[in-house]
Amino acid sequence: MTAHIPKAELHCHIEGAAPTVLVRSQADKYGVDIEHLIDGARFVWNDFTSFLSAYDAAAALFRTEEDYALLAQSYLESIAAQGAIYSEVFISPDHARIAGLSPEAYVNGLGEGIRRAREQHGIEGRLIITCVRHFDADAAIDVARFAAARPHPMVTGFGMGGDERIGSHADFARAFDIARDAGLGITTHAGEVAGPESVRDALDHVRPSRIGHGVRAIEDPSLVEHLADTGVVLEICPGSNVSLSVYETFTDHPFTALRDAGVKVTINSDDPPFFDTSLGDEYAIVQNEFGLSDDELLDTTRTALEAAFVDEDTRAQLLAKL
Ligand code: ADE
Ligand code: ZN
Repeated sequence: MTAHIPKAELHCHIEGAAPTVLVRSQADKYGVDIEHLIDGARFVWNDFTSFLSAYDAAAALFRTEEDYALLAQSYLESIAAQGAIYSEVFISPDHARIAGLSPEAYVNGLGEGIRRAREQHGIEGRLIITCVRHFDADAAIDVARFAAARPHPMVTGFGMGGDERIGSHADFARAFDIARDAGLGITTHAGEVAGPESVRDALDHVRPSRIGHGVRAIEDPSLVEHLADTGVVLEICPGSNVSLSVYETFTDHPFTALRDAGVKVTINSDDPPFFDTSLGDEYAIVQNEFGLSDDELLDTTRTALEAAFVDEDTRAQLLAKL
């Protein structure tokens, strides 16, 4: 049981955090047939490509500012009940645009959801605007410009998700430069379904302080050493990795090896209902499968707060809760 351990999450996609019950009610609200998307209580997908498609289909059912306010509020409330004190959610204006919602309304709704959850449950939250790798690089520049204009005080970071088997971070360097120059924190997905070369590619071209997943860095010892030396933080999502068959079992997962090598690791849920997990479950996995003690779990929360894209006053207040 890890309920008593304060938790912080750096890597959860808001569209991927919608439970099937909520997605079903959104589908009813908009009269959309989701037979292909949800079977019983499960999202239907069987590999990384079909997972990304299911994610896109679920995202298309959130269409108004209030839809997003409720989604963010309910997600943050759910993890507050599991002991979370802080959460950064990845958000995607491209997905909102495709669903017919302006980026401004999207961000305002999400910010309102954070405000409500904080007021009612004391959990703090921030928004990381992401571009999507399998959409085009020009769209990423538009998203970066939107983020750089600081559309909401809760927007503090910029990142990229999507299919990392496509292209190079070099294609997105300009977008990341725009975001970095505006003072946003930088993170990006790499080393999840692609190998260690994708992590080097990310480090070389977009200079992130954190990497989403990054677990496949383990295949290159000199890269692991580099991550340890430079203090780049990995946003590790063990349940997601096993669900997507990046690793067959938790025994094969490199969480412990990376941590033992001195790499900064954090615990995250990625897209919890898609992978039948939750932030609380991920902390439990790290304790039960990787053997971390309560104090060591608390250390990973501390690492997450130290790496959070948040102002120093808020960081100090959050750290004081540990
Ligand atoms: N978007 C949502 N979840 C993702 C993941 N696990 N990898 C890449 N892009 C994503
Ligand atoms: Zn992710």
